[in-house]
Amino acid sequence: MRFSWAVVVGAATAASAASPWPPLPLNLKDKNGTDAGRSLPDLNLFNDMFMALSNMQDAYFERWVGTWPRGIDWTRAVMGTHVAATLREISHELERRQPDEGAECAARKQEVIAGYFADVIAYYFAEDAFAIRNQAYDDMLWVVLGWLESIQFIDEHNRFLSKTAAGGLGARPGAETWYGSHWIPAFAHRARIFWELAAKGWDTKLCGGGMIWNPRLMPYKNAITNQLFMAASISMYLHFPGDSNPSPFSSAAGSNQSHWNADWGPRDPVFGKAAQETHRWLTASNMTNAQGLYADGFHISGHGSGSNNTRCDQRDEMVYTYNQGVILTGLLGLFQATGREQYLREGHALIQNVVRATGYDLARNVPVDDDNHLRPGKPTRLPPWRGLGRAGILEEACDVSGTCSQDAQTFKGIWMHHFATFCSPAALQLTMHRPIAKELDESALGGMRARHASACRRYIPWLRRNARAAMGTRDARGLFGMWWTAGLLQFASSAKLAFGGDALPPSAEGGGVVDYRNLGVPLDAVWVRAVDLPPPPLGETGSGQKPIGRRSRIASATSGDRDHVGKRGVGLEEEDGRGGTSTWDPNLRGRGRTVETQGGGLAVLRALWVVSRHEL
Ligand SMILES: *[C@@H]1O[C@H](CO)[C@@H](O)[C@H](O)[C@H]1NC(C)=O
Ligand SMILES: *[C@@H]1O[C@H](CO)[C@@H](O)[C@H](O)[C@H]1NC(C)=O
Ligand SMILES: *[C@@H]1O[C@H](CO)[C@@H](O)[C@H](O)[C@H]1NC(C)=O
Ligand SMILES: *[C@@H]1O[C@H](CO)[C@@H](O)[C@H](O)[C@H]1NC(C)=O
Repeated sequence: MRFSWAVVVGAATAASAASPWPPLPLNLKDKNGTDAGRSLPDLNLFNDMFMALSNMQDAYFERWVGTWPRGIDWTRAVMGTHVAATLREISHELERRQPDEGAECAARKQEVIAGYFADVIAYYFAEDAFAIRNQAYDDMLWVVLGWLESIQFIDEHNRFLSKTAAGGLGARPGAETWYGSHWIPAFAHRARIFWELAAKGWDTKLCGGGMIWNPRLMPYKNAITNQLFMAASISMYLHFPGDSNPSPFSSAAGSNQSHWNADWGPRDPVFGKAAQETHRWLTASNMTNAQGLYADGFHISGHGSGSNNTRCDQRDEMVYTYNQGVILTGLLGLFQATGREQYLREGHALIQNVVRATGYDLARNVPVDDDNHLRPGKPTRLPPWRGLGRAGILEEACDVSGTCSQDAQTFKGIWMHHFATFCSPAALQLTMHRPIAKELDESALGGMRARHASACRRYIPWLRRNARAAMGTRDARGLFGMWWTAGLLQFASSAKLAFGGDALPPSAEGGGVVDYRNLGVPLDAVWVRAVDLPPPPLGETGSGQKPIGRRSRIASATSGDRDHVGKRGVGLEEEDGRGGTSTWDPNLRGRGRTVETQGGGLAVLRALWVVSRHEL
């Protein structure tokens, strides 16, 4: 049978017949046709995930330039990570199904994988590595995580293919390694270069350690940069294969680090130590709030105005989803490297705090607020904001008002990606680092695995609810929206949401909360260095830092008179831009559907697919 690439890629919406992946029961118990009372069409989950990837690349990736042109540098790095992580799952699934399939079918599917891997390679060259070198430290670390994800995909796919070849199934005479393996040195080199650049952000003069966010602003030690450094460092320790490529020579200038331009081998203890040190600093930093969620970060009060204070004592109370996510990859990695279960426990505690803050009761497996009114035909009244969502659905604070920036549009997908990494059944099956394997007897390790799996299994109903909501935001082209909760809602064209006073997140400004990711960095002495005041352009980190021009809207939505905000504050009466005749779609507000929101949809489906395997 001739396989047409265009058929797969072009099959935008629900045309699952065009996918080379016929729906497969997720749960083997379902093979007999019983659906075990599932609310989500699990049978189609893999296919939905595949189509989310296919639609993402079809709608947003331009092959002739090798990138997602509407992305910005750091969001593109995250999109590349989503593609690679999804390819890992597609490869695993191919491996699982292979025994039941003919060689021809398998070859077709390998073509599909190769096609998307070509996108990854194209992006390697399109990535603006030069620009990112001059951006903030977190921007650099997304790059590290992205290429390490690709390296893991290549390793796993290559291992599977070489097994297949040995068994005579693959009909790949003479091919010892998959061609993708030849890209490992390139990807490893880029990961190493950006890790080294970012490591310069570690600072011991203030707050007893920790990474600085952006060298061009007032010192700000935030959750994301430190979580990223922890996750990237331990992932370098575990997955970086070494690098002896000395380019670029200039990077050694002025540095005394012993490793500049040296040959790096695998498992360099420098990485493991950096991860542990960052973790120690982060846990002692007092960065979590009363709900057990990471606030955004710390300024040093009085800094720059003659004070000798060096303590991180001025906390930005803003809570974003991604600040609760990236650390999970770090914690899993530290467990893999040390065998200490405390890291897993810390991760589960944070996940449980997140789930609780979406308004979900894990013990009873129900949302804490009555959501009858979310059913079609009922008057729509939004359940209250619970800290990081409502009605059991993860939300960014900017979701309900449709005012998310390009940065924030990327956040929920990031949370889901790192959650999936943490709870992947494959993660604890890794052969442990040898010295640890010696210390830990197999039964102790078995106990840890069992406890971890059972904790992860408990999140599945909540995760399924989130995936179902996200899928409800897909438009006719199969493209996901930003505000997942809207996927549970139905709006008539002129419908207005009724907002209780508790339906909106607390003010995005004031009360120690600075939503700089959506509204832009405030041009004041807390954030901006004196020499730069008053500066207009803070453009070096790209348009993602810019406000999106909805400030007045948020201000009016959150200043007093909250009962009326539904009528005027949050834009719920906006036209949908299509004449307002059909169902009103709140995900057309603000930036609308973008590659970043598509990445979020892909990530939540992948998370459900991965974590659901604990049920097998
Ligand atoms: C499914 O069917 C097979 C035989 O067709 C049977 O052995 C198995 O017990 C069935 N499983 C369930 C869960 O009904
Ligand atoms: C680099 O190390 C040398 C000696 O080890 C020292 O004299 C020099 O000051 C160091 N330079 C920097 C920039 O730290
Ligand atoms: C932790 O941070 C909170 C919020 O900024 C502050 O109220 C509290 O005093 C801090 N605790 C310590 C021990 O520094
Ligand atoms: C910092 O300044 C205060 C007065 O402003 C002074 O009392 C204190 O000793 C200083 N601390 C250090 C470590 O210099």
